[in-house]
Amino acid sequence: MAKKKFYITTAIDYPNARPHLGHALEKVQADAIARFQRLQGKDVFFQTGTDEHGTKIWRAAEAAKKPVEEFLDEQVAVFKELCKKLNISYDYFIRTTDQKIHYPGVIKLWNELVKSGDIFKQTYTGLYCIGCEAFKTEKELVNGKCPDHPTRQIEEVEEENYFFKLSKYKEQIISKIKSDEFRVSPDVRKHEILAFLENAKDISFSRPKTSLPWGIPVPGDDRQVMYVWCDALSNYITGIGYGRDEENFEKLWPADVHVIGKDILRFHAAFWPAMLLSAKIKLPKELFVHGWILSKGAKMGKSTGNVLDPFAQIEKYGVDPFRFYILGAMNIDGDGEYSEELLKERINTVLVSNLSNFCYRSMSFVNKNYDSEITGIDEDKVIGEVEAKFPEIKKAYEEYDFKKAIDIIMEVSALGNAYFQKKEPWKNPAESADVLGTCMNIIKNLAILCEPMMPEFSEKLKKQLKIKKLSWDELGFDLKKHRIGTAEILFMKIK
Ligand code: MSP
Repeated sequence: MAKKKFYITTAIDYPNARPHLGHALEKVQADAIARFQRLQGKDVFFQTGTDEHGTKIWRAAEAAKKPVEEFLDEQVAVFKELCKKLNISYDYFIRTTDQKIHYPGVIKLWNELVKSGDIFKQTYTGLYCIGCEAFKTEKELVNGKCPDHPTRQIEEVEEENYFFKLSKYKEQIISKIKSDEFRVSPDVRKHEILAFLENAKDISFSRPKTSLPWGIPVPGDDRQVMYVWCDALSNYITGIGYGRDEENFEKLWPADVHVIGKDILRFHAAFWPAMLLSAKIKLPKELFVHGWILSKGAKMGKSTGNVLDPFAQIEKYGVDPFRFYILGAMNIDGDGEYSEELLKERINTVLVSNLSNFCYRSMSFVNKNYDSEITGIDEDKVIGEVEAKFPEIKKAYEEYDFKKAIDIIMEVSALGNAYFQKKEPWKNPAESADVLGTCMNIIKNLAILCEPMMPEFSEKLKKQLKIKKLSWDELGFDLKKHRIGTAEILFMKIK
């Protein structure tokens, strides 16, 4: 039987500066979902990328005194390098300046909106926040500044723009979100967007080339360039072939989930579905909206100036401890504080004292006492206790509640530790071989359960256990006569 497809995307990042922890968080969350779905046997297509047009990029290139293309190539290389360091298993990295891959679909989509009678011209006066690349109302400002970008000046703009009839689609979108046909999760975001949609107005969809020289020209009017969000949102369909490889597009669309941050909710849950409805394209199935990584209580971001460098953090603590911490730091419906103090404590108490300790002490016991071979298992009640956790962990992954998934997985490891302790195999190794057989099975299960969040750890564990690729279906206690490899310590204590 053909595998079921699963198409997942992240937001595409602005590469006007180096990537920060917020970017890293989103990539790691999406990667954990992609890996979880692969473990379920799905045929996953995972897309990420960079959003390379707009005022912010143009000015950053000017400030760097570089031609914009050269500036972007250098910046994008850093974003790709971060994905590599983070072990992100993406299938395609889209760049919105890619004229072969991205432009044909964007142009096709614009023309579809025109055909539906949803694009019109109007003179516009408004307040523009470059940080958001969006117009703001007076009401949305705090002391004349955008609350998300308090270090940036709001600009007054008066110009002739093309507009998109967002208001025409608001009722349809509200009904699809309410019924979960287009699911917005968690619920707090669903309520937020429903409130916004009630009053949704038509939106400016282009800028004159004179005020924004860096964008995709509007078809049939090259004095105007497309509004950067119109160009950016289209990446989700152009990357998989819309406008150039319709067969692949049909195969993968609609997206199973778009992973985004809460600051860009309205673009994804109002503008994007309206554009798709106008072009008579199906809506994505789900939007998963994460909160912000905070540093000392404030959103970590380029404009706020409290940025921690993800490269330095990965270098210092290792990729899996970093992934483990950042995934566990976020409340599903709120924000998460990034603190190196907390990170160290979590690594030492959870990864080292619980997980790594259980794996190392039991595998090295097998190496020493049974010439690395197990022959059977001890049918203890711990087996049922561990197995009872599997559906709970699956549910947490399916709900993108990584914090919960981590906590329950660590309960599995704690059950293993307590079992080893209770059985005291060191007192009588000759009679305890099956106890270790049970422990090896718990470790095998941990290798599967941890894979979406800590793929490197999982790989090492499988190597030490001498087992090949595993899928979610192989959870259980079926490892009987088996020779393992040499145990090595998996996580070291951090001082
Ligand atoms: N280019 C737009 C997205 C276009 S998607 C069609 C953009 N870029 S961004 O670089 O500002 O943000 C990229 C992603 O990172 C967004 O989902 C955003 O929410 C997320 N984060 C940026 N800062 C963040 C934190 N401090 N914490 C968590 N994620 C945040 O918006």
